[in-house]
Amino acid sequence: ARRVAILISGGGSNMLALLDSMRGDHPARPCLVLSNEPDAAGLVHASQRGVPIAAVDHRPFAGDRAAFEAALMRPLEAANPDIICLAGFMRVLTPGFVTHWQGRMLNIHPSLLPKYRGLHTHTRALAAGDSEHGCTVHQVTGALDDGPILGQARVPVLEQDTAQTLTARVLEQEHRLYPAVLKRFVQGNRAPLYLK
Ligand code: GAR
Repeated sequence: ARRVAILISGGGSNMLALLDSMRGDHPARPCLVLSNEPDAAGLVHASQRGVPIAAVDHRPFAGDRAAFEAALMRPLEAANPDIICLAGFMRVLTPGFVTHWQGRMLNIHPSLLPKYRGLHTHTRALAAGDSEHGCTVHQVTGALDDGPILGQARVPVLEQDTAQTLTARVLEQEHRLYPAVLKRFVQGNRAPLYLK
């Protein structure tokens, strides 16, 4: 089976959706859940499912991204993943790190890219008066929230929506989209998947 490492920073609901999908005849298995937040709730959940976990706190590196990434590489290389899934990993990665894993690293972003790269995507979609919003899984390249799109799922924006209700509606689709895209990716399918 292909080996998948998942990088998180928080609750890890996308990570759990990915873990739950890698069972039975799925062509991949999780080999590591890695967090830059030692207290990330997701680490506990992964550990309870018997998946190896590691944490590398970014704070002691005080903005030295290269040194932080060198420290991330240790548990990663020990786990020897074929594929890395960023799942709510909230640190920007340097071109050096990205190049090392190029073609093998996926990210999920809570907008319909190329709209709303960066943070606060739901607030921005609401402020723009968009009638549709959603999420994107893409391959990670040197440019932030860019790279070949592997899948998208759309949701309607409702008149009474707040950032909170819209976040929840998109997150539900993230949990469908990311496992579906990962499975196709492991099977060698790079054609974008558009979920309705
Ligand atoms: C998800 O909505 C993910 O798309 C987003 O953070 C959330 C993490 O939730 N990622 C980004 O904003 C990346 N810049 P989770 O920890 O429950 O999966």
